[in-house]
Amino acid sequence: MADEKTSKPWAGRFQKAADPALESFSSSVHFDRRLWRQDLRGSVAHARMLAKQGILDESEAETLVRGLERVGRELADGTLELDPAAEDIHMNVERRLYTLVGDVAGKLHSGRSRNDQVATDLALWMRDEIPRLRRVLLDLRSVLVERATGEVDVILPGYTHLQRAQPVRLAHHWLAHFEALSRDDSRLRDARARISHSPLGAGALAGTTLPLDRDATALELGFEAPARNSLDAISSRDAALELLSNTAILMIHLSRICEELVLWNSSEFGFVEMDDSFSTGSSLMPQKKNPDVAELVRGKSGRVVGDLVSLLVTMKGLPLAYNRDMQEDKEPLFDAVETACACLEVLSGTIRTLRVNRQAMAAAAADPMLLATDLAEHLVEARVPFREAHEVVGRIVAHALDAGAPLSALSRDTLTGFHPALDIDPATFFSAERSLEARSLVGGPARKAVDAALREAQRLIETTREELGATGDPA
Ligand code: ARG
Repeated sequence: MADEKTSKPWAGRFQKAADPALESFSSSVHFDRRLWRQDLRGSVAHARMLAKQGILDESEAETLVRGLERVGRELADGTLELDPAAEDIHMNVERRLYTLVGDVAGKLHSGRSRNDQVATDLALWMRDEIPRLRRVLLDLRSVLVERATGEVDVILPGYTHLQRAQPVRLAHHWLAHFEALSRDDSRLRDARARISHSPLGAGALAGTTLPLDRDATALELGFEAPARNSLDAISSRDAALELLSNTAILMIHLSRICEELVLWNSSEFGFVEMDDSFSTGSSLMPQKKNPDVAELVRGKSGRVVGDLVSLLVTMKGLPLAYNRDMQEDKEPLFDAVETACACLEVLSGTIRTLRVNRQAMAAAAADPMLLATDLAEHLVEARVPFREAHEVVGRIVAHALDAGAPLSALSRDTLTGFHPALDIDPATFFSAERSLEARSLVGGPARKAVDAALREAQRLIETTREELGATGDPA
């Protein structure tokens, strides 16, 4: 009896049992079991509210709450076996409650539908998970700042089109990635702040005739207020899409960092070496040490983008309000968050333990060609229009290439022959260090600018750390 009521609460209307093929096809408990904590929290809040509103007796609510707590303990220690025939986590919980407390369990669902229940659970889950994701992201951001702090003096070429362009400090480079990841953090924070309205009490789609107190459950569950529109509360999945797209953007950033690490780790670049503890070997070629972590993270970014696309396409074309298609929202969401957390964790370790080959970087940055722009800008300071300066320096570059000599080997006379304002000492002018120090604008690679950026980064890290607190539940 209890079984029938809970695994098929709609059995009254049906004359035949479900075909076993349908039963396993429609079941979601193997993945939505992850929502059990949130599901229990929502049910406890709902039961207490029902009693306050006089829909249940206090003692009935007490029985339900104690039963739900027991279900929680059984789920936590893994003793409760979940049954796919009871479709999802919501019905599995209710079914177990029946066994524990008897028919009063049938009162819990008063004024509630699985539609508002699952929307509430998912919102609570995202509110719980976003701080966890932000915390592992904070670890990687801290690693980048630590590296930057120790690598202000390391100079390497900055690249455009993967061609050596101009020298930068390695600290400046790490801080560039820090900036992107800080925006990711801020997007995650915003996304969580927007998950502020409780779907609970929206019922199947049009509320309920019972006198629920939606404000009470909303506040009890940590939301700001009840969702304003019952149809929207049931049918929206934009918070999940937002979290997925934030996660996808984050993964694209990680992928780009990883692509760079793969390049830098190659013999062709030789800029870095990954620590043995974050590398793998080849089963065939004994000499190899592969940057598999970086490649895997790069690969997994595709998977997370797929998660986002999966839910976007699932939602496209669905009319209001709940449609069963929406059960497909959970796996991509869970996968994206899980994948991003795992990637952040291994990438933090990989970058923390990376060995930087300062000599290789410096040698690559020492090519005087990288300072051709400086030469043009020297002419601009002598009032030469930039376009003309560019042309003059272009001819000097062609001349040097023709002569097979570096720019720094051209004599002062040769240079002034191209333009009288090029009366410089090539030996001091073509130094990467001098060039860097001349780039002292805000956001630039000069030591002064990098030091200021480092202080700002430290401050940002502290702010995030305080916000996430020891328990990580931001207000
Ligand atoms: N397992 C369902 C889901 O995740 C719960 C909602 C079911 N609602 C319904 N009317 N069948 O979406």
